[in-house]
Amino acid sequence: MIRTLRQQSIPAAARLLAGSMADNPLHLRVFGSGARLEPMLEEAFARLLRRQLRTGIVLGAHEGDVLVGVAAMVPPGRCQPGLPEQLAMLPILARGGALQRLPRIRHWLRTWERLDPAFDHWHLGPAAVARTHQGQGIGTRLMAAVCERLDREQGVGYLETDKPENVRLYRRGGFEVVAERQVLGVTNWFMLRHQPWKRGQVATPPGSSAE
Ligand SMILES: CC(C)(COP(=O)(O)OP(=O)(O)OC[C@H]1O[C@@H](n2cnc3c(N)ncnc32)[C@H](O)[C@@H]1OP(=O)(O)O)[C@@H](O)C(=O)NCCC(=O)NCCS
Repeated sequence: MIRTLRQQSIPAAARLLAGSMADNPLHLRVFGSGARLEPMLEEAFARLLRRQLRTGIVLGAHEGDVLVGVAAMVPPGRCQPGLPEQLAMLPILARGGALQRLPRIRHWLRTWERLDPAFDHWHLGPAAVARTHQGQGIGTRLMAAVCERLDREQGVGYLETDKPENVRLYRRGGFEVVAERQVLGVTNWFMLRHQPWKRGQVATPPGSSAE
């Protein structure tokens, strides 16, 4: 069952994201693979999710009471963290022994920022399914729930990913690759999902004279 996450689920959601994303190619390239990576990501995701719960929507997939998947989406104009939010990450990086990685982090985030669409979009991510539950259709259901929200809001969806298998998954939800870049030698794909009427699934755009 997919429902909006509440504040009290943030620790479990952050743990899940960190556990499932610690070996994503870009995280490994930026932070290395030490034992401190997962706890540091967990702390960073908890901080990010708290902000995303305030500004956007965080969906959780559940099996009974157990959280097995997370997907966040932030509405237009809210996707770039302000300076206070960026500074708040510094102590987290320090505790994770990753301060010397700042130039890499900066390069990564600058590359993503530069490609961020100038027009209104919902920024998606992070998203992950618990390792024990991957490959069972949960990610597909989460993506469908995200797309359903996008359609309801008549919004454009945008995301970044660093795995070709994820590109396949998102393509099935109607996302298209709009850019491909190397970030520190890791291929990143930037994907956009237009409103359905722009993709020709609905004959007339909302608000047009034909309505
Ligand atoms: C990507 C992810 C959310 C997909 O969730 P899932 O529940 O495993 O996906 P589903 O079972 O619904 O669908 C499977 C599709 O997802 C993709 N996929 C990505 N990683 C996968 C994995 N580890 N196992 C299975 N499928 C995966 C494939 O395209 C697959 O389609 P295919 O069967 O045609 O190869 C999940 O695998 C995950 O958490 N991966 C690690 C973290 C991550 O990369 N998050 C996305 C960041 S953009």
